Amino acid sequence: MPIRLRKLHPLIGAEVTGVDLAGPLDQATVEAVRNAWSRYGVLLFRRQPITDEQQVAFSRHFGSLEIFPQAANRSQAVPEIFRVTNVGDDNRIRPVDSPGGRYSTLIWVWHTDSSYRRVPSKGAVLHAIEVVSKGGDTLFANMCHAYRQMPAELKARIAGLRARHSFQYSRQLRQLPPMDPAEAARVPPVDHPLVRRLRDGRLSLYVSATYMERILGLSEGESRKLIDELMAWATQDAFVFRHRWHPHDVLMWDNRWCIHVVTPFDHSAERRVMHRTTIAGIEPVEG
Ligand code: OGA
Ligand code: MN
Repeated sequence: MPIRLRKLHPLIGAEVTGVDLAGPLDQATVEAVRNAWSRYGVLLFRRQPITDEQQVAFSRHFGSLEIFPQAANRSQAVPEIFRVTNVGDDNRIRPVDSPGGRYSTLIWVWHTDSSYRRVPSKGAVLHAIEVVSKGGDTLFANMCHAYRQMPAELKARIAGLRARHSFQYSRQLRQLPPMDPAEAARVPPVDHPLVRRLRDGRLSLYVSATYMERILGLSEGESRKLIDELMAWATQDAFVFRHRWHPHDVLMWDNRWCIHVVTPFDHSAERRVMHRTTIAGIEPVEG
């Protein structure tokens, strides 16, 4: 069965039908998915009740997989699975004021995954296991478009600038204690240009509010102001696609030129469980 694509938004996203992610997939199908992924940035596959092992096998067609730096968020059985959830290992909702509860709301801040790495991830695959009745939508924005449409004055101000991205910073955002030193040593802060040159030559705004601690060479106040200004520009309504989840939806996105956020939900009462695989990048962020 050939794969079919339907655009979900003028700037980003397409729904894919005709693919069973439980696999196995032939080379032509993998190639078609890869092309659609690079063209549309976000792909939606509906009604895909895959196992963690099947998700890992599907994701490996697109690169090697990252292992998340904090053991607490990984699946014990399948370490490539990062559990994006407000439910603890005891299968109960994490108290909202507990470290795990607070950590789980970091996805309510716009970001691109693993921008805290020297070679950030290429993309991710996210499988919805349990969804909430209100809120908990995932929004995506196209950063090539955000850069292309940017006023010349703002483009000139950010030309050549670099930002520091740090995993520890994301924890500070939620007043979490410093990481275990051995885990922290694996994710030291890194600097990336604000304007990223992609392999095909396109330029993209590279911003990630969850991890972007500061812009280098500016005062603390100027840096914060510019980060806020860039995030507001990048996430304006017209640039954003919204996905409302159903169980066993699978979304796959490109982390090099798309950013995303989850809308708040009642995390004290509703369970939200998503399983993510993260496709490792192959190149540092080039300016
Ligand atoms: C992620 C993330 C989005 C979601 O997995 O990287 O930001 O909808 N999750 O849970
Ligand atoms: Mn994310």
